[in-house]
Amino acid sequence: MKILSIETSCDETAVAILAIATSGKSAKARILANLVHSQISIHAPYGGVFPTLAKREHAKNLIPILIQALQKAKFLKLKPYDISKEIKNHTEKILTKEPELLAQFLSEIPSIKKPPIDAIAVTYGPGLEPALWVGVNFAKALSYIWDIPIVAVNHMEGHVFSALLKAEKKISNSKFLISKQIQNTTYQIPNIQFPALALLVSGGHTELVLMKDRNTYNIIGQTLDDAVGEAFDKVARMLSLPYPGGPAVAALAETAKNQESVTRNYNIRLPRPMIDRPNFDFSFSGLKTAVLYLLKDYEKAGVTLNKNLKANICREFQQAAIDVLLKKTIASAKKYSVKTLLIGGGVSANNELRKQFQQTIKKEIPDACFLIPDVHFTGDNAAMIALAAYFKKNERGNKTADFSKLAASGNVRIDTQKMPAVFLPRAS
Ligand code: KG4
Ligand code: ZN
Repeated sequence: MKILSIETSCDETAVAILAIATSGKSAKARILANLVHSQISIHAPYGGVFPTLAKREHAKNLIPILIQALQKAKFLKLKPYDISKEIKNHTEKILTKEPELLAQFLSEIPSIKKPPIDAIAVTYGPGLEPALWVGVNFAKALSYIWDIPIVAVNHMEGHVFSALLKAEKKISNSKFLISKQIQNTTYQIPNIQFPALALLVSGGHTELVLMKDRNTYNIIGQTLDDAVGEAFDKVARMLSLPYPGGPAVAALAETAKNQESVTRNYNIRLPRPMIDRPNFDFSFSGLKTAVLYLLKDYEKAGVTLNKNLKANICREFQQAAIDVLLKKTIASAKKYSVKTLLIGGGVSANNELRKQFQQTIKKEIPDACFLIPDVHFTGDNAAMIALAAYFKKNERGNKTADFSKLAASGNVRIDTQKMPAVFLPRAS
């Protein structure tokens, strides 16, 4: 099955094309194209993502990125033809709120031959609603003009499935090589043993999701306030580090680790909120506030916030976050006797978190299979959306609806998805 996937839930415009096939119990995915266009430099001056700006950027970039993806997959065949008045009118209706995208759509798409795609996967939520709508409406317009069904995917489900994208050959970590290598790589998709537990850690979410099977999700713990990625971003801002904060905090923390003797002189200790509570919920707002008070204390005492001190604050903050995530994850994995433990989301790119999870899981729950995405699939991408869509279409594809029923939803949870999996462009 060949899937074209679209992801616009936040500040990355991503399009991928995957060819996925099942043989026996396992599946193989070949990535024919995987494009992620980040808007970070546009949002960085605001210190966070600006929803209307994100929407505008997605609308501007979707067509050029789609064309690149088709080209990479060798699906770009030009075949100019005139679209009927009816198709034009209906496309105008679908993209009525995206005039810039509509103009590009009508000038570019009719000259492209329908690609050999079996389904269009799109993220419908959660995320920034204006940004999600652009992707959903774009998917509808393509679905309509090409007569290809849509599979609607929950963004968090995408992060769960990202952990299954395991490259058969080792991929370099060099920024310049990654995109080329991913494109020519086959991914062996492991068969998940249930019950499985997923820890999802991103800029908007921190949740522990128990899975009885591939379609049954139950959130057994979640943050009561800030997401862990959000806390990284806010602490970075307090320390005048660049946005997004996660990678900057992690990089500085690493320098502190490399100077053990200096570290001990500072003796910083931050709280581990809710670590001893007998439930699986989290709270990261208190941890972030503790950093704020610490900085105020330093200011009062006339202590200069030099790079070394910042590095040690980052290190202790990062460790406090990892301690809480790790303890609650292991406790819930034990309680529910899970056979598979998955991690996904932007924060799972954190090296220290990856290392400590690996070590502790091996010691505490050695029989569980631990799956963590390759670093280039930890952040938002469309490949994970295609993979989630593949399983949805295969397992729940008989439940269909007209695509007028498909709507973006900013706050949809992973465990209360009421929508059908597959949407058809033309009512039969
Ligand atoms: O999943 P993601 O790309 O987007 C959302 O769906 O939110 O996650 C973004 C979050 C940001 O808060 C970013 O600071 C954080 O992931 N992040 C990290 C690291 N890389 C990205 N946090 C900690 N360590 C990292 N290395
Ligand atoms: Zn995400």
